[in-house]
Amino acid sequence: MKDVITIDGPSGAGKSTVARLLAAKLGYNYLDTGALYRAVAWKVRDSNIDHDNEDALRDLLKTAEISLEGSTISVNGTDVTTAIRTKEIGELSSQVSAKPIVREFLFAMQREEGIKGKVVVEGRDTGTVIFPESENKFFLDASVDERWARRLKDLKDSDPTLTLDTTVEDLKKRDHRDSTRESAPLKKADDMFYIDSSRLSPEEVVDTIVRHLK
Ligand code: DC
Repeated sequence: MKDVITIDGPSGAGKSTVARLLAAKLGYNYLDTGALYRAVAWKVRDSNIDHDNEDALRDLLKTAEISLEGSTISVNGTDVTTAIRTKEIGELSSQVSAKPIVREFLFAMQREEGIKGKVVVEGRDTGTVIFPESENKFFLDASVDERWARRLKDLKDSDPTLTLDTTVEDLKKRDHRDSTRESAPLKKADDMFYIDSSRLSPEEVVDTIVRHLK
């Protein structure tokens, strides 16, 4: 499987920017799997259920319909593209993504997108669990300080008066939860090409990936 390119890595490593640029350069589709976990988290919060209550979570997933159209993501017909990008939903998505029933629920959807071919998929387990047979797997990393500084810069670029409500400690906590959970933890597999993007621009990362494509 050569035309499914997977990019995994911790939050804030630049996966979305790089995956989007790479997909545009190659004429591929782009699948942001984190958005799917965020959509489930949005539904959990919207339904006001306790995500630690497994029965309630199972019932919620039975009626949850997540659909992707280009960069628009909807849950049961409601466009949640912007609403899922808050700090609160980011936190909650990290918690619900540790639940095996949530991962099972989203597995088939991710596979279906990939089976269509020519797609750049990014997340935490796309090369280990979703597309283990992909021959083009990358692990994108950056130092925690650099990842936090990039978030701050993005925010200041959009509005210089804003301050970041996420701290370096919040980022470390999320990294820890995403990489120590039992179900599909974030990890670099032996067959992934490791890129430390701390001192690279997004374009340089894309060039590095293109050079290593099989
Ligand atoms: O990439 P992101 O910040 O949008 O992801 C939100 C959360 O979703 C992240 O903290 C962990 C989870 N996630 C996951 O468990 N597996 C994926 N493939 C993608 C995201």
